[in-house]
This record gives sequence, structure tokens and C-alpha cells, in this order.
Amino acid sequence: MITVKDKVVIVTGSGQGIGRAYAETLAADGAKIVIAEINESTGKDAEKAIKNNGGRAVFVYTDVTRYDSAQNMVQVAIGKFDRIDALVNNAAIYYGIDPKPFTEITEDEWDRMMAVNVKGTWNCAKAVTPQMIIQAKGKIINVASSVAFEGKGMFMHYVASKGALVAMTRSLARELADMGGNGITVNTLAPGAIEGEASVKLGEAMRSIKGFTGKGGPVAGQILKRRGTSYDLVGPLLYLVSDASDFMTGSVLTIDGGSSLH
Ligand SMILES: NC(=O)c1ccc[n+]([C@@H]2O[C@H](COP(=O)([O-])OP(=O)(O)OC[C@H]3O[C@@H](n4cnc5c(N)ncnc54)[C@H](O)[C@@H]3O)[C@@H](O)[C@H]2O)c1
Repeated sequence: MITVKDKVVIVTGSGQGIGRAYAETLAADGAKIVIAEINESTGKDAEKAIKNNGGRAVFVYTDVTRYDSAQNMVQVAIGKFDRIDALVNNAAIYYGIDPKPFTEITEDEWDRMMAVNVKGTWNCAKAVTPQMIIQAKGKIINVASSVAFEGKGMFMHYVASKGALVAMTRSLARELADMGGNGITVNTLAPGAIEGEASVKLGEAMRSIKGFTGKGGPVAGQILKRRGTSYDLVGPLLYLVSDASDFMTGSVLTIDGGSSLH
């Protein structure tokens, strides 16, 4: 049976968007959720929504770019729920990306992207590791994107950051298996184009670029000619958090309607 009942799961960036859908779905299946979010207003709102639905959740202000903040996230999780079964590294710079040729990406934009998407994942993985070693069990799920395999243009800093997560997953999987007596696994979840405000905004911005060649939108290159939804992702995430995936590590689970075919 695939279930996450009573699992303690930290979901970073779960105040809005897909992360929020992860948090709410895992909570509905009986998991205890730590909403680690930089936006206090959406984070608190997500906590309230889960509790109103009879679920268990705690919001903790977290800036994943800072290691001390990631450590505090772990302290709050253990203080409230006694253990950490899974960390979902979902926080990222995605909403509001300003697409442009790689020659026009500013140094600040590049550094911020890497700080949140790549360093943030490293920080959170580092922070949960001591507890997962004590437990000799734990799951880290890094949220990448199918664009890392497709090599999409016009937001190269984002694409590069997601490619880095795939590589980091493999390396982390090896190191943590040794440290955690084969009980700690690390996998990547790589979604394709998912319906939502963030994607609509990005699509509009892309189409406004002079000479843009992405005719037909993101589904044009997919086998399945529809956009994915958060609902398409929560089942695969549930599997990755559950004990059913105990023999899977260093792998990529790609949910993209058949766009990258890697
Ligand atoms: N939406 C898509 O089509 C799509 C496709 C593939 C992959 N993804 C990935 O899925 C994940 C969720 O996507 P989304 O569309 O919900 O993105 P989103 O931009 O709507 O949400 C990202 C969340 O991360 C939070 N965040 C940003 N910086 C943070 C920081 N420093 N510390 C803590 N939290 C921070 C934001 O406040 C927000 O709640 C991201 O990793 C994204 O790259 C999204």
C-alpha cells in the first residue's frame, strides 16, 4: 500500500503553487507537514487550510538560501513532530521569471537563481542529514524540471539550476546511502509544463519576446497534448515519500506528458 500516514514531511516553498498542493495532499493522507516558506502570509495560510481540513501542519519562516534558516526549519520540525521522514526541496525561483536570451541575464538574476534553487537544496539537505542518520532512514526529494532534459531556451539560469539538481541528487544518493546505512534515499521529481498562474505568466512573457519560436506553446513538443496539473504530480510525490520507494535512489521520476523522453 502506498501511504504517507504519520510521516513527517518538510515541504519547502509550500505556501503557494505546486508546493501547496503537495503539502495539502500529503496532509490529507495523514502526513504531518512542515510548511517551510519565505512568504509568511502564504505559509500561514497554508497551515490554516490544512488544519481546517483536519490535517496536521506547522508553518516555519524559512529562507532556504541561508543555512541557519534551514537549521531552524529542522529544529522546528523535530520540536513539533519528533522526527523527519522526508524533505521535499520544492522552493525555487519560478513565478515571475523574466525570460530573455542568456546574454541578457544579469549577474544578480543568475546568482539569485542559483542561491535559491541550488544552494537552497544543498542547505536543506545538509540540515536534515544529522536527524536522518540518527533515524537511519529518510527521503530527500529534489524538485527539478523536464526543461533540464529538453534544454529549453530563454531562461538558461533556471534550466541550469534544475540540471544541477539532477546531478546533485545522484551524488547525494551515494553519499547518504553510505552515511545512513542504506536507509536514506534521494530522488528527483521532474515535472513538465504544469497549469497555474506561474506558467501562464511565463508563457505570456515568452510570447512577447521578439523572434520567439515556441509556436503551439509548451504542449507542442509533448506526446500528450494537454498541460499537466498539480494533480498529476501529487501521486508520484506520494510514492516518493512513502516506503514503497525504499529501493529507489539517485533516480529521476519525470512527469511531463512525454516531452523529454530521456
Ligand atoms: N509550474 C511549473 O510548470 C513547473 C514545472 C516544472 C518544475 N516546476 C518546479 O516545481 C516547483 C514549484 O513550482 P511552482 O510553479 O509552484 O513555483 P512558485 O514560484 O509558484 O512557488 C515557489 C515557492 O517557493 C517559495 N520560495 C522562493 N524563494 C524561497 C526561499 N528563498 N526560501 C523559501 N521559499 C522560497 C515561494 O515563496 C513560493 O511559495 C519549483 O521547484 C519549480 O521550479 C514547476
